[in-house]
Amino acid sequence: MTRRLCLPAVMMTAGLILTGCGGSDASGFSSSARPELKVTGAYMPQPVTGDMAAGYFTVTNSGGADTLTSVTSDLTDDITLHSSEGGTMREEKSFAVPADGSLVLDSGGNHLMFANLGHRPRQGEKVSVQLHFAESGTVTVDMPVKPATYHPMTGH
Ligand code: CU
Repeated sequence: MTRRLCLPAVMMTAGLILTGCGGSDASGFSSSARPELKVTGAYMPQPVTGDMAAGYFTVTNSGGADTLTSVTSDLTDDITLHSSEGGTMREEKSFAVPADGSLVLDSGGNHLMFANLGHRPRQGEKVSVQLHFAESGTVTVDMPVKPATYHPMTGH
């Protein structure tokens, strides 16, 4: 179960250069600042079918940079990170959480994609998800299921 936390960053050849997973000589870079993460506004629009659902939340960071590397849940083993631009979705290996900044997942933009659902989540239910960060470890969030119309979804 132990994840090699630096692996996703290393694999992103064309992606962001992340501090904190840095070189073998710990020369103090700027990686000393620990991330201070707060997750707010999590929700899942009630899916229209039992096949797929989306999830949204905001991570606010008042410390050093971090990276969301994966998400797990009892609901399904199949959770991926998606970005979307101009209506086109793309799977991402990770999401950067900038230092003193925020990572926003919202309708029409970055989102979690749940597939092969164990059951179809209903409004009022809470879906517990574990957000795995490279620096901060695991943060568990209860994601309330909102009406399908709570936030219009596109592309699904
Ligand atoms: Cu998607």
